[in-house]
Amino acid sequence: MYRLFYDHVLTRVDAEKAHLFGVGAFRWGGWAFRLARSVNLTRQPSYRVQAMGIDFPGRVGLAAGMDKNAEAVVGLAAAGFAFVEIGTVTAQGQPGNDKPRSWRERDVRGLRNRMGFNNDGADAVAARLARLRRTRAGNEVVLGVNIGKTKVTPADEAAEDYAYSARALARYADYLVVNVSSPNTPGLRDLQSTEALRPILAAVRQAADESTTTRVPLLVKIAPDLADEDVDSVADLALELGLDGIIATNTTIAHERGEGGLSGPPVHARALEVVSRLRERAGEQLTIIGVGGIDSLADGRAMVAAGARLVQVYTGFVYNGPGWVAKLNASLGDEG
Ligand code: FNR
Repeated sequence: MYRLFYDHVLTRVDAEKAHLFGVGAFRWGGWAFRLARSVNLTRQPSYRVQAMGIDFPGRVGLAAGMDKNAEAVVGLAAAGFAFVEIGTVTAQGQPGNDKPRSWRERDVRGLRNRMGFNNDGADAVAARLARLRRTRAGNEVVLGVNIGKTKVTPADEAAEDYAYSARALARYADYLVVNVSSPNTPGLRDLQSTEALRPILAAVRQAADESTTTRVPLLVKIAPDLADEDVDSVADLALELGLDGIIATNTTIAHERGEGGLSGPPVHARALEVVSRLRERAGEQLTIIGVGGIDSLADGRAMVAAGARLVQVYTGFVYNGPGWVAKLNASLGDEG
């Protein structure tokens, strides 16, 4: 069904319009879909995974970028995701880059984007999350909140910009992610260096602690294009600062297909390498969330075998559809 719909409808319209259509469908169809859903993850005790003090109903989550403004969280969870990561949200709302800014790369089952963190801003998303968390279904979803730097904020004010978002959003999050790895905000990936990252993570930790009574787990999301030594440095810093985990990886700029970051199968091999490197360096002390090019059940198993406790998908979900997510969750339910 999804295959036919994808081939004949979704691929005939521009990639961003198809995206908006999809998010809209999950937004409005979510409640009905929830009732009809064939696999109720919460009733499958064998799929449950404990990580970072959170009880996840399965290993497979939705990666950041699809529901940037937290508009379709319940519907997406009902599509089979054990957890949903919203964002990237920035302190100030911003329009993102000019269109077109996302493309399908069908020959490799990939996507390419240079969205540039289009989002409503931390205060507007916080108001939406407050409403979501007041509903029973919305409160049940394991929710990650991914934050990034506002484009106009200079690098030397990045820590306060991230802290602003953390103060607004941490209270609604089951876990918080500092994204320093998107290729589409100029200079953002430079924040992955230890000197730049340390004050940002410290400020976000403090802002989150000051605005919540419970300690919200904090992770950092990194790029696949980091050199091995830099991957090690981020792991060391995460351990030093008492972070809870690392999400690896974002999209790659190591391609010749035009502007923007490439996702899907072309990222998979490097994402696996980064995950196993992090696992070797940090052992069990950090929760590694593996993301990048998971397009089959075998890819998901490989990610877990490399050391990921949880996995996320974005592009594989676009190409394989909602039914596949439930299958992936079931197939990883008995791993490790
Ligand atoms: C993304 N991704 C992303 N990541 C992030 O941390 N913040 C974001 O706002 C976005 N936005 C975004 C938009 C689009 C159109 C795509 C395709 C991807 C990256 C995403 O979360 C994931 O890390 C990569 O896409 C790799 O996983 P997949 O897609 O290969 O499963």
